[in-house]
Amino acid sequence: MSEACALITIDGPSGSGKGTVASLLARQLGWHLLDSGALYRLLALAAQRRGISLDDDAALGTLGAQLDVRFVAAEAGLHGQRILLEGVEVGDELRTEQAGAGASQVAALPAVRAALLQRQRDFRVAPGLIADGRDMGTVVFPDAPLKVFLTASAEERARRRYLQLKDKVADVNLRSLLEEIRERDARDMHRAVAPLKPAADAVQLDSTTLSIEQVLERILTEAAARGLV
Ligand code: DC
Repeated sequence: MSEACALITIDGPSGSGKGTVASLLARQLGWHLLDSGALYRLLALAAQRRGISLDDDAALGTLGAQLDVRFVAAEAGLHGQRILLEGVEVGDELRTEQAGAGASQVAALPAVRAALLQRQRDFRVAPGLIADGRDMGTVVFPDAPLKVFLTASAEERARRRYLQLKDKVADVNLRSLLEEIRERDARDMHRAVAPLKPAADAVQLDSTTLSIEQVLERILTEAAARGLV
């Protein structure tokens, strides 16, 4: 791991657009991508498969330290990455609201966060890393030269999620999505360990009325100002 390796952290609540922005930036710059939320989702999924309760801190900490997870960059022309849990590709199952809620639950446990800390830091390899999550700038990479905190109103985030889901899920409902988003925000922001909050030195961007392209442009401008790109 190189401490000097270029790094941009992007934190914020679900639906702020950070996953899309992080993946596009990584591809555009040819850097690595850490989707830290996927680690928490994978851990919750693996625990459910093994019948481990989602509040069993010690058992989940042990599982988190040993979990066999691999992220494989998508082929040229495609964005995102393939995710393998115990050698088997995990598909849409990882992106359901249920997986997100399970992730949010296990993410509140101290032994889980401790088990995943070094695993996340190991993603910092040349030529650079885009780290997407909730505590990338505050806990995992406090020395990052550029920290972005991306937000959007809860209503706009629910609307984006609705548009993503409406063709895939039969009974998607905007009001219940908004409620789920508010519940998840409250749990992520008020937990004792590594709560969702901007780092003191983060650049805060509200994407409610911005396009993905505009968000990318703002981040690249900040990165250029710091000599990162
Ligand atoms: O970004 P996401 O929706 O995939 O994250 C799923 C959950 O994992 C989210 O509710 C909070 C948690 N999480 C976290 O606590 N810390 C991170 N760095 C990333 C995600």
